[in-house]
Amino acid sequence: MKMWSIWLVGALLASLYLYRRTTSPLTKIPGPWYTKFTGLCLKYHEFTAGRRLFIHQLHKKYGPVVRLSPDEVSFTSLEAIREIYASGGSGYDKTEYYDLFRQYGIKTMFSTLDKQAHSHRKRELADRYAMTNILREPHVSAIKERAQVFVQKCHEFKGSIDVYSLLHCYALDGVTNFMFSPGGLRSLDNARDFDMMEELTYHQSLQKNLLHYYLPTCASYFPSWLIPRPSPMTNVYAIKMAAQKTPDEYSLVARLAKKGSPLSHMEVAAECKDHLAAGIDTTGDGLCFLMWELSKPEHSQIQDRLYEELRLTSTDTPLDNLPYLEAVIKEALRCTPPIPMSFPRYVPSGGRTIAGYFMPESTIVSCQPYTVHRFDEEVFPEPDRFNPDRWLEEKGANDRNRLFFAFGTGGRGCTGRNLAMVEMKVLLREVYSHLQSSLAPDMAACMDLDDQIISARPKDQMCKLVFESRSRV
Ligand code: HEM
Repeated sequence: MKMWSIWLVGALLASLYLYRRTTSPLTKIPGPWYTKFTGLCLKYHEFTAGRRLFIHQLHKKYGPVVRLSPDEVSFTSLEAIREIYASGGSGYDKTEYYDLFRQYGIKTMFSTLDKQAHSHRKRELADRYAMTNILREPHVSAIKERAQVFVQKCHEFKGSIDVYSLLHCYALDGVTNFMFSPGGLRSLDNARDFDMMEELTYHQSLQKNLLHYYLPTCASYFPSWLIPRPSPMTNVYAIKMAAQKTPDEYSLVARLAKKGSPLSHMEVAAECKDHLAAGIDTTGDGLCFLMWELSKPEHSQIQDRLYEELRLTSTDTPLDNLPYLEAVIKEALRCTPPIPMSFPRYVPSGGRTIAGYFMPESTIVSCQPYTVHRFDEEVFPEPDRFNPDRWLEEKGANDRNRLFFAFGTGGRGCTGRNLAMVEMKVLLREVYSHLQSSLAPDMAACMDLDDQIISARPKDQMCKLVFESRSRV
């Protein structure tokens, strides 16, 4: 082929590309000019753990709808949340991003992309996460017993104590005792189980995960040090527990592996391992951010008010009758949602209009809790301030609750929400009925949100607090 014809083909392709980019309906969407042509800037921010803040800044500059790349748009309004995540019940299909969350290479409920397949799987287990099941005596007793061990550790230890690690133990023990009842881990007081908490919690996997996502065909050639979050102990554990012979009939594993279940043993193990992973960092990080906020000197009044509520109610007051406790938890999940980043979805065939803009089919659309919880300052005034009282005001309560997005929404919202809320409430009631916490003198760890693949954790993975008995203060 002559040189000039190569140039001609190149010029034609470039013109076609520019034509497509400049005539796509997405060009009308506010956003930096370069996002019409390339997603490289977004990828740069993803690889440097800055995606969430990059998107947040774009929303602050361009408004509630912003183009992130030639085929990706972020939204932050209630209207968009309802359309993307709840239209028709479960909203739009997930993108291949969720393939990263397969377990043993098997699709779980969380990593199933298509709505129909997802709803089949959900039918197999949803009743286990109903509040009536979670509040069954054996489940609540197991959670309470773990919370009491946590308090005992805080009591025993006179100096500063790293609650980050202990709270991850508590979350791991809570979720495994629920899933595998009457079995389950005791990482708060058993060294071998503690190792499993460490395996699941202390890892650097962001870039490795992104490489797997962007280069899926090369992934099988990657060297072992590029495998994200290897968890050999947990792998063996979940497979073993999925084969339990006599689990409590109300446990998750009993439901998944019941006689006639359509799931194979490995599918049951994968589902359980996924819930175990979903339940440790989210609840552990959420509680850690919360206790850190409560322990700041400027929030001592908040802690005192919580103590007052707990002191004036008996220990068998239902967890739902503690409004200040609920407000404290919601405010922590609003300020520092453990999953603060975008939940990506594909626009269905034929395209859809979202928040007034037409989106062609297969556009990737999403909302991120971090921005949803801060963007509308009429609903959340002083959005960066930790202020539990905002949840107790009657005025604007509906708007606040509708924009509370920490657990997602719609048919693919968090299945474990009830379990997480019960675990958090039980622990905080046990701790703050008896103890007062403050930042330890040697607490120098950075508590900024450090983005992982979809979740975020305290940057230094450490939070040192000191506890004093309430009777002595
Ligand atoms: C504070 C604690 C928690 C938070 C903030 C949280 C948040 C979320 C969010 C935002 C999603 C939707 C993500 C998306 O659409 O991409 C989700 C899904 C899910 N969560 Fe949670 N979660 C928490 C605790 C738990 C616990 C304790 C469990 C289980 C033991 C759990 C199990 C799940 C599962 C199975 C899904 C997938 C649901 C589906 O695809 O239908 N989560 N969670």
